[in-house]
Amino acid sequence: MAPYIGPATCDCPPVRLPSHTMVLLDTGKLFHNIYIFTWDAYLTLVNLITPNLKPGNVIPHGSLGAGGIWPEYVPPKEGDSRCACPMLNTLANHGILPHDGRNIKFVDLARTVRATFNFAPTFPLFASRYAANMLHKNYERDVCNLAEISLHNGIEHDGSLTRQDVRYDPDQGRPYLPFIEELLACATGKDQAGNAMFTAADLSRYSSIRRAESRATNPEFTLAKVHKLFGSSNTAGLLAIFGGWVADLEVVLKEERIPVGWEPRAMSRKGLTIIAFQRTVLQVENGIKEEAVRRSM
Ligand code: HEM
Repeated sequence: MAPYIGPATCDCPPVRLPSHTMVLLDTGKLFHNIYIFTWDAYLTLVNLITPNLKPGNVIPHGSLGAGGIWPEYVPPKEGDSRCACPMLNTLANHGILPHDGRNIKFVDLARTVRATFNFAPTFPLFASRYAANMLHKNYERDVCNLAEISLHNGIEHDGSLTRQDVRYDPDQGRPYLPFIEELLACATGKDQAGNAMFTAADLSRYSSIRRAESRATNPEFTLAKVHKLFGSSNTAGLLAIFGGWVADLEVVLKEERIPVGWEPRAMSRKGLTIIAFQRTVLQVENGIKEEAVRRSM
């Protein structure tokens, strides 16, 4: 039987967590994943043979965020549900998802992530279905509160860049500013105008530090291979969707707010596909040298 993982960070009833291999390989899910990845390959091909969207036109005219105009930002208030994902919280803070973060349909999660960040439909569909499965819910029919998505060792894991480990802060819905300050200070890149930017190596370096520190100090530390990949996927989004610009990421990560006038930096016509995204994910993950940091501690 799958191990019981308590609802430390959730306002949800206790659930039994399925093994991640099961979530990926379970028959019906396997069939669906084949469908998603075939569709993704098709979209990747279309992106390769069609020109990118032009800056200023990534969000279609008439959609939320077109011309860099986003719905008003309202910080979360007492009782609002928030999770370990800065980007989902950002959607709720702007009212793109319900501001109270409650009773959100998984299909709306996928739809708003796609439309706001110019992901191809495949990644949000995969991630949102994965979240539904890990909570033993039905993707098409069910709803969730954002806090449920923080189920420990579901997608949420130890050694994150923007949150303390669950052992030290069961409320994964709020950013941990000291880590975010350290992360922002790691950026070594510059654009042509001299603005600070992250490189993949910067993000790998800070991920190495966080994993090593967390492993050394948290007696309950765990980080399975699948969680390493989730971690690097989340981190890679900072480059692929936010272009690595530190000024923008400071606003997004600290306040969970969309910067004024912002548009996604992923410009491909059909949106960022899983296949295209993997290059950045692997670049970040392969650059993580936790062992080297541990030896120098
Ligand atoms: C349905 C879509 C999504 C789901 C279910 C989801 C879920 C999560 C979860 C559970 C975490 C916590 C991981 C941890 O413990 O570190 C997380 C963190 C994060 N996610 Fe998401 N996410 C989604 C979409 C996105 C998108 C579109 C982006 C980028 C544009 C993104 C970027 C991040 C980042 C940067 C973190 C913080 C990682 C850290 O603190 O180390 N997520 N997400």
